[in-house]
Amino acid sequence: MELLKQKIIDEGKVLSDSVLKVDAFLNHQIDPVFMQEIGKEFAGRFANTGITKILTIESSGIAPATMTGLELGVPVIFARKRKSLTLTDHLYSAEVYSYTKKESNEISVSKDFIKSDDVVLIMDDFLANGQAALGLIGILKQAGARIAGVGIVIEKGFQNGSSLLKEQGIKVESLAIIDSLINGQVTFKEEVPSR
Ligand code: G4P
Repeated sequence: MELLKQKIIDEGKVLSDSVLKVDAFLNHQIDPVFMQEIGKEFAGRFANTGITKILTIESSGIAPATMTGLELGVPVIFARKRKSLTLTDHLYSAEVYSYTKKESNEISVSKDFIKSDDVVLIMDDFLANGQAALGLIGILKQAGARIAGVGIVIEKGFQNGSSLLKEQGIKVESLAIIDSLINGQVTFKEEVPSR
């Protein structure tokens, strides 16, 4: 998605050879007009797949997932990382290990919102090692729901998340794939439509 690549070039900051900061439009401040374009792009890429719900993880997945849900006209659920006061039992849960942060989080979703007849699109802001997406897949498997695919705003193509998901036969659509962040330079991988 050219608009996203330009936004990364104009507003992103390369923090190291493996970390890109995009606080200006995705991880801290949100650009709603741009986010609406992201929603339209995902809706187009997953058109006619029978999606009934979108599942993401708090917090930065919520904005792109909501805009996609608006375009597709389906509800958006976000997995919680912390136990909420009202989310007590009746939960699907999965353990997500972050290689970046070197910590594990238990994520959970209420059983009220995912049913075995749902067709679910998983979404997130970043795809690095794929652990968050794999946790969400685990939750959908517990619910017996069908996985329509995984939609990612920015994929770090030099980490193995995408291969892990594709090995499981899951369709992955990333709007920008970063090939390298070496020497403070962002280089993108050319997009090859997955289907
Ligand atoms: P993984 O799920 O693909 O295995 O990712 P990883 O553990 O490496 O990432 C942990 C957190 O860091 C996730 O956010 C992920 O989105 C984010 N992240 C990973 N690489 C980058 C990067 O290069 N730039 C930025 N900006 N974020 C990155 P999180 O902890 O769930 O945070 P949030 O969703 O609450 O913002």
